[in-house]
Amino acid sequence: MKDLIDRLEQDHSLSPEEFIALIDGRSPDVSSYLFERARSVRRRYYGNAVYIRGLIEFTNICRNDCYYCGIRRSNHFASRYRLTKDEILDCCRAGYQLGFRTFVLQGGEDPYFTDSLLCDIIAAIRQTYPDCAITLSIGEKSHASYAAYFNAGANRYLLRHETADPAHYGQLHPPTMSWEKRIQCLWDLRQIGYQVGTGFMVGSPGQTSHHLARDLQFISQLQPDMVGIGPFIAHHDTPFAGEASGTVELTLFLLGLLRLMLPYALLPATTALGTLDPSGREKGVLAGANVVMPNLSPMAVRTKYMLYDNKCSTGEEAAESRHLLDQRMHQIGYEVVTDRGDVAAK
Ligand code: 5AD
Repeated sequence: MKDLIDRLEQDHSLSPEEFIALIDGRSPDVSSYLFERARSVRRRYYGNAVYIRGLIEFTNICRNDCYYCGIRRSNHFASRYRLTKDEILDCCRAGYQLGFRTFVLQGGEDPYFTDSLLCDIIAAIRQTYPDCAITLSIGEKSHASYAAYFNAGANRYLLRHETADPAHYGQLHPPTMSWEKRIQCLWDLRQIGYQVGTGFMVGSPGQTSHHLARDLQFISQLQPDMVGIGPFIAHHDTPFAGEASGTVELTLFLLGLLRLMLPYALLPATTALGTLDPSGREKGVLAGANVVMPNLSPMAVRTKYMLYDNKCSTGEEAAESRHLLDQRMHQIGYEVVTDRGDVAAK
């Protein structure tokens, strides 16, 4: 196992069989060796800096019906909201004062936000905060739309591939959605010039170590700038209500593997990790993550962006508690920095 880890650190890739052997054969001993190597690689590229992103969840209205997601179209119990341009700009103002230099606009696929409205919002943020990065996380769009947002001033785009296995994709999504379309979107984003983030849920229903090996292989091909992974957590008003959650333990192991595969990458310790374990974010950083994305949405809507049950939006998850996050990262030997936090040179 340790030989495989050493080889991954050296070559940045393994065969699918080797990934499966590592995942299935992992033990606490192997994990702690992996995390030690991951921290060493991360230190070489990023020192002890932890980058922060202010997450603005600007609409929970979505035309899609993903089986796992609490804001899916068919969930009639979700209380829906949209933020106005002014409300979004207010979030940015508050975030800038707290030291955030990246704003992540995340939302459902909400047709109300046309390309021209989105471009207007992006351009206003770009003009007001020329020193900040703008990240979009608004799902599948056409090449032309992605290009328009980029030209309006967006720099980065997050679109998780969710699973690299087309059949598994079909188990997680309705037939109206296609794996091929999603993968095409990622290549379009890359071609336009975005810093691109992808990712997947750990422990989603039907997922096996074979699927995870395919996820890692796909990521190795795409060479994304960012990879977000977090445990699947059931939402009670979805078709996956009764399904078991993914584990923090496997998520951390995969974070470690990702750090060795993509030494330069921005890897967030995600909210889902912090939701299943109160020290999930610290554990994520100690496994190789270097980004956290506290919530900058207006207080009144935070509990409405419920992708899964018990999703955290207080404590270190809240942008206003930056001092808390600073303290907690400091305690484990890391430093939250006020910086755009662009991807390191590859
Ligand atoms: N559990 C964990 N993560 C989820 N996401 C959506 N629903 C869930 C869930 N039930 C993740 C998806 C999506 C991202 C915004 O949130 O991976 O891409």
